[in-house]
Amino acid sequence: AQLSQDELKQQAAWKAVDYVKSGMVVGLGTGSTAAFAVDRIGDLLASGELKDIVGVPTSVRTYEQAKGRGIPLATLDEQPKLDVAIDGADEVDPNLDVVKGRGGALLREKMVEMASAKFVCIVDDSKLVEGLGGSKLAMPVEIVQFCHLYTLNRLQALPEVAGCVAKLRMEGDAPYVTDNSNYIVDLYFDTPIADSQAASKAILALEGVVDHGLFLDMVDVCIIAGKEGMEVKER
Ligand code: A5P
Repeated sequence: AQLSQDELKQQAAWKAVDYVKSGMVVGLGTGSTAAFAVDRIGDLLASGELKDIVGVPTSVRTYEQAKGRGIPLATLDEQPKLDVAIDGADEVDPNLDVVKGRGGALLREKMVEMASAKFVCIVDDSKLVEGLGGSKLAMPVEIVQFCHLYTLNRLQALPEVAGCVAKLRMEGDAPYVTDNSNYIVDLYFDTPIADSQAASKAILALEGVVDHGLFLDMVDVCIIAGKEGMEVKER
C-alpha cells in the first residue's frame, strides 16, 4: 500500500526522534510534521525509553501540545543551549536551505533552532524545490504592526526580491497576529529567489521587519520521506 502524506510526515518525524537521547534539551517545532515528533517524544517519555528531557517549544500551539503530552518544558531564557531541535519546513532546496513559517511561527522557530547544536529538519518529499520561493507558496516575513502597509510596500520594492507580490496575511477579516503580537507579510514569487543570502540581508535591514522565513545555513540534518523511502541528508 502507498503511504499517505501524513504517514510520510510521521516516518520522518519518528526517524528524527532517534537523535534525541535521555538528558537532552530539545527544541520542539511547529506544524503538522513537527507535531508527530512532539507526540513521539511524549510517548517515549511515558514508556520510560527517554528520561530527563526538557523541551523548548517554538509556539504557543506546540507549548500546549507538549504540555498535554507531559513533556517538561522550559524557555530559551531558562535553557539557552539546546542539544537538538526538530522541525518541519515549507520548502527545502538542494543545499538544505529552507523556507519556514507558513504556520506563522517563524520567529520563535528561528530563535530556538539557532540556539540548538543540531537542527534536524523533517519533511515529506512534496517540500523539495530547486530554488527557494519556487513552490509558488508564501515566503513569510514577520513585521511590526506599526504602519504595516508602509513596510509591506518597502518589502515589495526591494530589488533583491524583484517581481514578488507582497500580501498581508489575513485570518478572516482581520490581519493574522503572531504569537509575538506581530503581523505577517507573505511574499509570492513567480520564479525562485535569485540570491537568497542577498534577499535575507535586504529584508532584515528594513526597519519594521522582525524576521523572515528564509532559514539559510541552519539545517544540519534533513530527513526526507518519500513514497520510495526515506533519505537522510547531512550538511
Ligand atoms: C510553522 O511556522 C512552520 O515553519 C512549519 O514548520 C512549516 O510550515 C511546516 O509545516 P507542516 O509540517 O505543517 O507542513
